[in-house]
Amino acid sequence: MIKIAPSVLSADFSKLGSEIDCVVEGGADLLHVDVMDGIFVPNISVGFPILEAIDKHSDIFLDVHLMIDKPHRYVERFCNSGADLVCFHVEADQPQDILTALADIKKAGKKCGLSIKPKTPASVILPYLSMLDLILVMTVEPGFGGQKFMADQLPKIRGIRALIDKQNPSCLLEVDGGIDNKTAPLVADAGADILVAGNAIFKSSDRAAAIADLKLYSAKS
Ligand code: DX5
Ligand code: ZN
Repeated sequence: MIKIAPSVLSADFSKLGSEIDCVVEGGADLLHVDVMDGIFVPNISVGFPILEAIDKHSDIFLDVHLMIDKPHRYVERFCNSGADLVCFHVEADQPQDILTALADIKKAGKKCGLSIKPKTPASVILPYLSMLDLILVMTVEPGFGGQKFMADQLPKIRGIRALIDKQNPSCLLEVDGGIDNKTAPLVADAGADILVAGNAIFKSSDRAAAIADLKLYSAKS
């Protein structure tokens, strides 16, 4: 069954602990934490202290999505701040530094992932695919929650699914951006293993029902 990763970017940060409890009790499989630096994306979100606080508060698997420039500088510190998986953008670093960063994450005993923006072709992932635990395909331009799903990314999701199945079947495929009850079945049908959802879960008055619905609608694909 598809896994659901609520994105805390859409949570009420004034009561982050209870917001997290709510989605953990509501059936979340992992928690997605978006880190933005105002350079790689035109927005700034959270960093080490918040991640550490979340890690202390909850045992849920922490899926950290770095939208920062030159992530190789910081991956080790995110590993030491409570991330279970660190995923960064393939567009954000040089090939040699990407390899170093992936190796650093593995050395820290954590899972590693690469994320790709909507305009980036799937082929850029190929040199790294054998090292990856996860590929994150963005279905919005990274930077903000609550944007409209880009259906033109579906063929790319299918293409990456085929590459994973052929070259590294244990690698997971995660999709992030504009996921709701309408788009979840499309993405599930294209081969996603994990759906990230911010607004669809945290802006709902019943988070458990929102998570259950996303699972239900994904299964209908
Ligand atoms: C956007 C982030 C997403 C965002 C998703 O750059 O990577 O994780 O929180 O939010 P929704 O599900 O509202 O599009
Ligand atoms: Zn994200």
